[in-house]
Amino acid sequence: MVVLISGGGSNLRALLDAADSPLYGARIMAVGADNPADGLAHADLFGVPSFVVSPSNFDSREAWAEMLLENVNFFKPDLVVLAGFMRILPAEFVRALSPKLINTHPSLLPNFPGAHAVHDAISAGATETGVTIHVVDEGVDTGPHIAQRSLKILPGESEGELHERIKVVERELLVETVLAIAEKKIDLNQVSKIS
Ligand code: GAR
Repeated sequence: MVVLISGGGSNLRALLDAADSPLYGARIMAVGADNPADGLAHADLFGVPSFVVSPSNFDSREAWAEMLLENVNFFKPDLVVLAGFMRILPAEFVRALSPKLINTHPSLLPNFPGAHAVHDAISAGATETGVTIHVVDEGVDTGPHIAQRSLKILPGESEGELHERIKVVERELLVETVLAIAEKKIDLNQVSKIS
């Protein structure tokens, strides 16, 4: 797989740790980012190649995404994982990889899509939230769900505290889900057809 990140990359790290075992049936061929993200250090540590394609170097979103796609495709991955990749990808990018493009999101979708899911859940007074791993479609966090896990929101919990607890569950679910895809226990074509 190729993993795309924007930030600290703790989900990436969980995948790198898992893939370090010969018993784990998936490998990370490269890590990409839209900025010189801190999380790229995890790739360096594991000797995994990385690339940065920053939108600020391009005239349009489309031109940026085309270069990002070229970098991804160079590695000929069977799966592309958005693990904290905080940009919306144009339809051409999504279509080129679909359904082998998945995203992990810190809420129980369809609740709280977008870039501020944890904040939005607390603001809405929700008592439960979680993680959704889904196939990426052309909308924002609207693609078919592959796996979800829920979590109670504790009274008085801050956004940071809740997000850290979500990420503990998220890392586990992502590692399990990618393995299930690699072992063909989950068929992304089928997931896309059903929804
Ligand atoms: C994760 O919780 C991921 O679900 C979220 O960013 C975090 C990245 O953490 N993504 C989104 O909110 C996308 N809408 P990490 O960099 O430590 O893996």
